[in-house]
Amino acid sequence: MNLSTDENNSEFKTQETTGAAYLAAEGFFEQLKSELKGITKVHDRLILTDQPLQKSYWAQNIWQNPIIIPIKSIKDGAQKLKAIQRNWNLYSFQLHRRAKLIQESLPYVSCSPIQFPSPPPKGKLGSWTLLDSNIILASPECSSVFPNGEVHFIEDKEGPPNRAYLKLQEALMAIGTLPQPGDFCLDFGGSPGGWAWVLQKLGATVLSVDRSPLDPKIANLPRVQFEKKDAFSFVPSYVKKTSNKVDWIFWDVICYPEKTFEWISKWVESDFCKNFIVTIKFQGNNDYKISEHFSKIPGSKLVHLYQNKHELTWMLTKDTI
Ligand SMILES: C[S@@+](CC[C@H](N)C(=O)[O-])C[C@H]1O[C@@H](n2cnc3c(N)ncnc32)[C@H](O)[C@@H]1O
Repeated sequence: MNLSTDENNSEFKTQETTGAAYLAAEGFFEQLKSELKGITKVHDRLILTDQPLQKSYWAQNIWQNPIIIPIKSIKDGAQKLKAIQRNWNLYSFQLHRRAKLIQESLPYVSCSPIQFPSPPPKGKLGSWTLLDSNIILASPECSSVFPNGEVHFIEDKEGPPNRAYLKLQEALMAIGTLPQPGDFCLDFGGSPGGWAWVLQKLGATVLSVDRSPLDPKIANLPRVQFEKKDAFSFVPSYVKKTSNKVDWIFWDVICYPEKTFEWISKWVESDFCKNFIVTIKFQGNNDYKISEHFSKIPGSKLVHLYQNKHELTWMLTKDTI
């Protein structure tokens, strides 16, 4: 990204930059940095590059076409942003007070937690920051419609046994389709039952498989069954013996990513299930190469969700291919 603005230019023209910018999820800056080329500058969690849009699994939000906007005052900054579009979200890494005053002069954008299930917010949300007191870096187009890519749901403190349900809710929103009443779901690594809770609430039937039991309040829910078994034994030929269809496979098993890939490949090849949500859990910091193998599976998506920890989520729905 060429950040040189001609500050002597009396017209203070907005300038296009040559590269996209990438916002790391908190705690996962190094993972993002190592997958990007042409890094020109780092502003806390925001990485600027001089390259066109690059593939990134770890970015929480991608500023797809940032522009540099010289400003004369807070009011001028707000006016220039408003002239581009209505909705803007501030990523503030310095000059916090000045940046906040500009943001407060812009139309209100709701950051309230959302109810699940509901479709993602419609409309564009741009991102901007202050590079210095008189220069805004702004991207009208971003990869996420959520402020800084943070997806917050209204939480249920009673029903689910843990917070893992939030990760599944975010994944289902990202994949853009939901299990339907009557669908049969296999939920591997299902204990204590956060994902099963989400799935049965949607009306689907769930068979959770884990070496540890489900929380009794989940095990007793209608449409939830449990088998205490090794998830890896559920290969397509084994499942076909007892089930005439599998609509969804959910996988949240703690294991080596290579093992997950080998197992999931059998299922994708079998064509016996059309929809998959799989977490790939990394142990060290040097085992990310497998990500490429997952991402090459046709029609699939590989992302670091806001609710993900040291893991990526791989998703595939064959209905959209
Ligand atoms: C992150 S927890 C799953 C949380 C769960 N998805 C939920 O919503 O509550 C990972 C689970 O993987 C299970 N697990 C690890 N290896 C397994 C295996 N080979 N077969 C079945 N379950 C396994 C663990 O027992 C653990 O319950």
